[in-house]
Amino acid sequence: MSCRDKKIDGESEKPRHNRQTNHDGIVASGFSILARTDFSENTFLLEILHPAMAKAAHPGQFVIVISNDHSERIPLTIADFDREKGSVTLVVQAVGKSTREMQAQCQAGGKMFGMVGPMGIPSHVSGSQKVICVGGGLGVAPIFPQARAFKEAGAYVIGVVGFRSRDLIFWEDKFRSVCDEFVICTDDGSAGLKGLVTQGIENAIKAHDDIDEVVAIGPPIMMRACAETTRAHKIKTTVSLNPIMVDGTGMCGGCRVKVGGRIRFACVDGPDFDGHEVDFDDLMMRLQRYKPQEQEALERWSENCRRLALEPDAVIEDEGS
Ligand SMILES: Cc1cc2nc3c(=O)[nH]c(=O)nc-3n(C[C@H](O)[C@H](O)[C@H](O)COP(=O)(O)OP(=O)(O)OC[C@H]3O[C@@H](n4cnc5c(N)ncnc54)[C@H](O)[C@@H]3O)c2cc1C
Ligand code: FES
Repeated sequence: MSCRDKKIDGESEKPRHNRQTNHDGIVASGFSILARTDFSENTFLLEILHPAMAKAAHPGQFVIVISNDHSERIPLTIADFDREKGSVTLVVQAVGKSTREMQAQCQAGGKMFGMVGPMGIPSHVSGSQKVICVGGGLGVAPIFPQARAFKEAGAYVIGVVGFRSRDLIFWEDKFRSVCDEFVICTDDGSAGLKGLVTQGIENAIKAHDDIDEVVAIGPPIMMRACAETTRAHKIKTTVSLNPIMVDGTGMCGGCRVKVGGRIRFACVDGPDFDGHEVDFDDLMMRLQRYKPQEQEALERWSENCRRLALEPDAVIEDEGS
């Protein structure tokens, strides 16, 4: 049984009302959540007090969080860090059981039960004089520290970010403060350029014939499209891979990716890789691997939430074990 299988078979799925999590699902110990901002129905920001992590963090790195004492580990990119304040910012998209649980439980003034990191190799930001930093979907927030780092290193930074529609846009001012040019793309044309981020990249390449590097973060399908766009122009392209991770330390093999025909572990060899060398088909196939279990975990959690809402004192049996 893989570590991932343990997610539904083991005790990590059992709803409990003891130890560090009280009856209302409020975590009593851990790292203080200083602020929370909801960007949309399923995207939210958590700023967490962790001075040691903020001091050590570099763009491109990630953390593994455990939101309460019975939840699973979730890898999340460090979207921002403030060394003076001692805080680390994460932007989360609630897509399944654990991220929805975080969305329900993690509030300003509360605690994040566990958090390890910074993990992964920091992004290489020196050397390029003109870069396009591209973020799409859950990649918009993580591209920000990279854009800022390039700017601080003296590069000319073109930011290209993609959203489905105007109401989902966030951090526009933050991006404008570190980008020399900033392009918003929306699928429906309700703001900025109507179209995909690849159109934004093409436009930028047309306007500048001296782009040194493109850095793209987002869903695999988007990163693949970005890499294909730049391949024709022979522009170095870095992507940040997001395979399923369990330990984040190179031990479990869960995050295996194929790059340039070689097997690499994204947690310790990446997460940044040469986008022209990545086998995106393999990545996407591996990300789909546990869909039935993920669906089952989400349905069971939703049902338990529904039952607890109806009967707050109910003792939920361990159905998953
Ligand atoms: C290095 C890295 C950085 C990431 N940064 C962010 C981020 O900044 N913000 C964000 O919202 N999400 C980020 N993710 C993805 C996030 O970890 C998953 O969305 C989350 O684990 C889903 O868990 P779930 O139980 O809510 O959903 P599930 O229903 O369990 O899974 C939904 C989908 O998320 C992916 N996933 C599930 N479990 C994991 C796992 N342990 N590791 C990686 N992917 C998984 C799979 O594609 C799966 O199909 C990152 C992933 C990696 C590897
Ligand atoms: S997450 Fe286990 S080896 Fe990378």
